[in-house]
Amino acid sequence: MKLRAWTLALAGLGAATAVAAQDLKSPSADQYVPRLGDIMSAAQTRHQKVWLAGKAQNWELAAFEMRQLKASLVEAAVLYSGIPVSNVTTLEPSLQSTSDAIAAKDGRKFAKALGDLTEGCNACHRSLGRSFVVMKVPSDPQPFANQQFAPQAKP
Ligand code: HEC
Repeated sequence: MKLRAWTLALAGLGAATAVAAQDLKSPSADQYVPRLGDIMSAAQTRHQKVWLAGKAQNWELAAFEMRQLKASLVEAAVLYSGIPVSNVTTLEPSLQSTSDAIAAKDGRKFAKALGDLTEGCNACHRSLGRSFVVMKVPSDPQPFANQQFAPQAKP
């Protein structure tokens, strides 16, 4: 099945660790299904945190937040079948290049890749009648005043 194929493709990028696609396909009444806007709000948080962690060169945290972000996107597409699969698969190259830049600890590639990824967010929003939801690469000052983004000194 197509949907399963790309879910596996994203899983290859390390995305599906938090999502058991099988379970999510037919949730029973007692299972909590987040609203799409809530999944997206989580994606927004992760997108912001990926940026802040990358800017602070905390690559370990950036990689973690990238996995969380991918998991949110997988969840959106698996739970909401009205979202065309192609809208998600077109994000794959920029998801991959962002992850690659993080793995390579390359700040310049990271900034470029996250810009492309952000454009991918907006492309989907535009194509689904949500062009008023416009994401951008975050700018200072940082809004998450309740979390430290600089790497911890290793013991
Ligand atoms: C596959 C399509 C798709 C992709 C990719 C996508 N979105 Fe969305 N997003 C949507 C849709 C559809 C909505 C509107 C949801 C609704 O109407 O409840 C939305 C809404 C949102 C909202 C508004 C949520 C709210 O309730 O205020 C934010 C923020 C958001 N997306 C962030 C992102 C970010 C960040 C990315 C990229 C990392 C992203 N989205 C990628 C489809 C997508």
